[in-house]
Amino acid sequence: MSTLLRQQSGAQWTLPQQAGQPRTHARRPDDHNLTAAIRVTQCLGLGHMPEVNLMEHYPKRKERQTERPVITEADKSLAKQFGRDYFDGLRRHGYGGYEYHPRFWTETVRLMRDYYDLPGDAAILDVGCAKGFMLYDFSLLMPNARLTGIDISEYAVANALEPMKPFIRTGNAVSLEFPDRSFDLVLAINTIHNLPYEACKRSLQEIQRVSRGKAFIMVDAYRSELEHKAMLEWVLTAETVLHANEWRELFASAGYEGDYWWWTVE
Ligand SMILES: C[S@@+](CC[C@H](N)C(=O)[O-])C[C@H]1O[C@@H](n2cnc3c(N)ncnc32)[C@H](O)[C@@H]1O
Repeated sequence: MSTLLRQQSGAQWTLPQQAGQPRTHARRPDDHNLTAAIRVTQCLGLGHMPEVNLMEHYPKRKERQTERPVITEADKSLAKQFGRDYFDGLRRHGYGGYEYHPRFWTETVRLMRDYYDLPGDAAILDVGCAKGFMLYDFSLLMPNARLTGIDISEYAVANALEPMKPFIRTGNAVSLEFPDRSFDLVLAINTIHNLPYEACKRSLQEIQRVSRGKAFIMVDAYRSELEHKAMLEWVLTAETVLHANEWRELFASAGYEGDYWWWTVE
């Protein structure tokens, strides 16, 4: 079974540990949208697995990871300002053009909705939403959802997709300006590793605090020395890059009980 899970998820490590008591998600008639690996987990009655690849449909081109030139400390410090250079400047400073395309999030948000069995009017927070691309695809899929995005970048917020502007504001993941248990789902995709370790821990606590129990994050991680080396050559902005096991320890020490997946460089 673990072989099947490994094949389906494309991952190369063994079955993750279950954190605490297993939680179960209600099955919906449209469970067919769930990926094969998730269905196998559910069919085998393994309960809720916090380590779950909800980013399986997100396109990740291998060559994109090698096409960037060698980066310098100066490139990194410019990128870390999360301004125009990072989003819409040169490739060596970030995305090299951060533009909306439906292929990025359409299937991913569908998977998230179905996996978390979200009601049509779910309250969803995207921490580090940038220009609101993922939120926009949620708005198409779930027109009655109550969407909120925050991002540290004034540039990204000012240049967000027009229909998303009313729902997006500047904010810092370390201190979310929302009451406890405000959201049905909190998401943070490739955001919190941009904070130093202790601040990253605080952001996990904040995500836990403002969610009503469902959260999903993706973070830069490595599982071998080879991946570690490749990651160090690749990262521009991340301050906290950990081995997957160290991340799990950090989640536990922060009291983060949501789900997670890894952004790796292979
Ligand atoms: C790699 S981008 C990911 C953007 C988007 N989540 C996605 O997956 O396309 C990281 C984002 O995190 C934002 N960010 C970095 N530090 C942050 C912080 N402390 N609080 C909120 N957002 C932050 C950046 O401005 C940027 O938009």
